[in-house]
Amino acid sequence: MSVPFVTEVKRTHNCGELTARDVGKTVVLFGWVQNRRDHGGAVFIDLRDRQGLTQVVFEPDIDPEAHALAGTLRLEWCVGVQGKVVSRGANVNPKMKTGEIEVRATALTVFNRSEPTPFPIEDRIETAEDKRLTHRYLDLRRRPLQQSLITRSRMNAITRSTLVEEGFLELETPYMGKYTPGGARNFLVPSRLNPGKFYALAESPQLYKQLFMVAGFDRYFQIVKCFRDEDLRLDRQPEFTQIDLEMSFVSQDDVFAVVERLLVRLWREILGVEVPTPFRRMPFDESMARYGNDKPDLRFGLEHVILTDVITAHGGEGGVPMLLEAVQQGGIVKAMVIPAAHPLSRAEADKLEEVARGSGARGLARAKVGEGGEWTQSPLAKSISPALRTAINEACKAKPGDLILFQFGKPSLVHTVMANLRVHVAKKLGLIPEVGSGGRWELLWVVDPPLFEYDEERRGWVAAHHAFTRPHDEDVPYLLTDPGRVKCYRYDVVLNGFEIGGGSIRLHDPRVQAEVFAAMGIGEEEARNKFGFLLDALRYGAPPHGGIALGMDRLAMLLTGAESLRDVIPFPKSKSGIDSMTGAPGEVDEQQLREVHIRPLPPPKS
Ligand code: AMO
Repeated sequence: MSVPFVTEVKRTHNCGELTARDVGKTVVLFGWVQNRRDHGGAVFIDLRDRQGLTQVVFEPDIDPEAHALAGTLRLEWCVGVQGKVVSRGANVNPKMKTGEIEVRATALTVFNRSEPTPFPIEDRIETAEDKRLTHRYLDLRRRPLQQSLITRSRMNAITRSTLVEEGFLELETPYMGKYTPGGARNFLVPSRLNPGKFYALAESPQLYKQLFMVAGFDRYFQIVKCFRDEDLRLDRQPEFTQIDLEMSFVSQDDVFAVVERLLVRLWREILGVEVPTPFRRMPFDESMARYGNDKPDLRFGLEHVILTDVITAHGGEGGVPMLLEAVQQGGIVKAMVIPAAHPLSRAEADKLEEVARGSGARGLARAKVGEGGEWTQSPLAKSISPALRTAINEACKAKPGDLILFQFGKPSLVHTVMANLRVHVAKKLGLIPEVGSGGRWELLWVVDPPLFEYDEERRGWVAAHHAFTRPHDEDVPYLLTDPGRVKCYRYDVVLNGFEIGGGSIRLHDPRVQAEVFAAMGIGEEEARNKFGFLLDALRYGAPPHGGIALGMDRLAMLLTGAESLRDVIPFPKSKSGIDSMTGAPGEVDEQQLREVHIRPLPPPKS
């Protein structure tokens, strides 16, 4: 019997929904053949769509034509089935959502055959990522990826409904804008109509969203693509998605409250987890001191201890000139204790030194604390004075059997090396609770960072975030006299060691703005060249405003337990920025280049 599938006979159910309650119903399912088994007379297939699997059985005495055709089916063929839902009786499969039933087929059509796939469409496969990315449409048929993208779709829906309920407007901003220096490196787009000129792809809607505030569109949001030509890592893609928002007439606390409500809903509705609010707040300086970076993972200890003052207090008497020298040259000394409960062999401790070198350290001093507080296994042991050793043991709260790791020198390097070491050691010692097995969600705000950072190359102060971040009022007098001490209303929201969002309260006062530029050595003309339109706009009654952008891909990665952003982005780029499926970036011919007024250089010699 030929059944007019699709045109007249429509799908009645998806492959993940039939249960014992449906027994007796005539149903129509469309999907892909996940597997096929010939059991004597009957042919069984598992039919798959994005909602699940349903077992279909073809028997010769029910419909000989369908049964014969079923015998020819192969994996990944796309088919339509009509049949009756019957109970599986004693053969219930409790592992399958639809395991109580099967569909006894009365008709089958093959919409399309499939060639053998280059890798199996299964949950767990060993296939190299590059091969999977080349056939991403097949990779995306696999359940883990289907579930990640379904979660992402729900995240979008929850984000939109939460923010719309909070009174936000979803407004769009251009992707092609003017290049402005600073921030991430931009992708450039040559203009055909304007020879020699380029658009920059937006690294974020930052300037536009501030203009929305000037225009009176209080409470803007957008789920928006951003483009950054950065070196890629597991948590970085060249095009990624932000949940971007901006609000007028708000303080930092107001922005935090909105973001907390949104994150609470995402965790509740997607994972059924209640995250407590308000999130903890940690000043930037404290985060740097205790964890070495501004995105601390609070699921485990191994906190750093700053010893700079202890070393200074003991002056030249400590017997460790290296440490004192580092401090006298403006450096810092940090330590971290690996508790006796997690003893490391000498070889393991040596490996840590390699890890430290990998982050740029010249070495990693260490000391094992003995029963009486003495140090062993340490080049420092011989020369250090008992008084300094006792002071260090006390500062580190080190007990017999503990291993103290030291790093000293330039603050930024010491922090980075020790931050990487902290995470490395925690992973190695199994101190990080897995999310699946009673893991924790440690959300926090890192607040009050410095407005400027010192740029060694330029020998001057540059904006640590962007040049429109509002300084703390009490620090404004120091903008020109002592820029390094000025703190600002910038904030990052951090989850389990990932920066999942960042933003700031913006500067809307042109006088303070002028001082900030002056502190950075940016004259009026340069400021005008760089930010002319925003500076103009701020002169016309700009409201106080602030906002934030959350990294949607990172949120999706954490919510789904994925290991890489590539697992939550449908069509991601590889580590080297390549899309191996389409072949982007690809070559274009000379004529196309001429049209956009570009003459290529010969490729660099490798
Ligand atoms: P920021 O640059 O901190 O802020 O970006 C906000 C968040 O976006 C995510 N993110 C990324 N995710 C994946 N791949 C990348 N390459 C990448 N870069 C950033 C991070 C980050 O916290 N305009 C400001 C926001 C504001 O001030 O309102 C901005 O873009 O999770």
